[in-house]
Amino acid sequence: MWFLIFSGFLAWTGKPVTSSCVVEIDPPRAAVRYGNPLLADCKASSDQLHGVGWESSLGGVSLTPNTSSVTLNITAVTQWKFKPQCYATLNDGDQCIENLHVTVFKMPDSVSLAQPTPVGPLVEGKQYRLRCDIVNVAPADNLSVHWVQGNKIVHLDGSKENGIHPVDKSFVVDLTASRNDNGSQIWCEAKLNFWSGGPNVPPMRSKSYEMTVLYPPTFTSPDNEIVELQAASKLTLKCAAAGNPAPAYSWDVPHSVKLANKDLNLQQAVLMPSIHFPGVYNCTASNSQGTKTKSFTVTEVKGDRTMFAALVGGITAVGVLLLVAGLFFVTPDGTFSCIKGDYLRGQPTSSGPV
Ligand SMILES: *[C@@H]1O[C@H](CO)[C@@H](O)[C@H](O)[C@H]1NC(C)=O
Ligand SMILES: *[C@@H]1O[C@H](CO)[C@@H](O)[C@H](O)[C@H]1NC(C)=O
Repeated sequence: MWFLIFSGFLAWTGKPVTSSCVVEIDPPRAAVRYGNPLLADCKASSDQLHGVGWESSLGGVSLTPNTSSVTLNITAVTQWKFKPQCYATLNDGDQCIENLHVTVFKMPDSVSLAQPTPVGPLVEGKQYRLRCDIVNVAPADNLSVHWVQGNKIVHLDGSKENGIHPVDKSFVVDLTASRNDNGSQIWCEAKLNFWSGGPNVPPMRSKSYEMTVLYPPTFTSPDNEIVELQAASKLTLKCAAAGNPAPAYSWDVPHSVKLANKDLNLQQAVLMPSIHFPGVYNCTASNSQGTKTKSFTVTEVKGDRTMFAALVGGITAVGVLLLVAGLFFVTPDGTFSCIKGDYLRGQPTSSGPV
């Protein structure tokens, strides 16, 4: 019942079919760079075929009788809107028509990356905005921009605009600065995306921007360390911290060990066996982004006291050697100095091994 009504409806709306033809275009759709040539074949089939031709705003091929296939040959596509049609004419004067779908494209004149905003060096944890300016590109609807950092895409954006004429487009991305970004390159790439099987036009990239990210000092070892004195070996207190700009260091040592030079800028202190002193040694690393303090609690090994005291008793003044970047740094006036009496008066026996 429904089927009958439906077929009746079709018979009523459809054209009466006296003869039929099929027109096929190869390729059925084309993407051509503005100004480039375009070739397409048209093939018609019908038992009543009179001839085939092409029509287009840049010239066509007049109706060619007694043939079933003609080629459209445009030497330069110089129109943004270009819609050639192939037509086949039948003996009774009927025609069938097929459109060639042409996308005329143009790669941008330039793709450029603006300096990040806010201006100035990037600061860890702060958001910044980058802008990519794409000039004179067509069509805008299948334009995408890739933000690439190192070898990975950090953000993808696409234009939602419709239009076939060249336009300027800008894209922005908001990113948060991380210390791992320091020293890396970031850039944007404009890409025209066609249907699958369409041309693969390589993206056009901007110059890259080298990121400098400022961040506060962070110690590369725990912020608090408990270190045991060993009678016969030297003890190294490591205070190295990562930071941008490079941190400056200062040391605050037990009052029995006096700093001769207040401006020491050292990543690590080495206490030689002859001058082991328990107590708290603080190291401060600082840069424009912050200040961090690390403490070393130096303890005595139990039972080592007699030997330790004897050792100290036999010395009137000692120096501490400081190691900088693998080099021993010794100044004639001594970098640390110790007064025996200070030690005996001020430092009670510490808690022993922990
Ligand atoms: C940060 O990157 C710059 C190059 O942009 C480099 O000179 C500097 O050593 C880097 N700093 C750190 C702490 O990684
Ligand atoms: C644009 O992209 C869509 C989705 O991938 C695709 O269907 C369409 O054919 C593309 N347009 C052009 C002109 O390539």
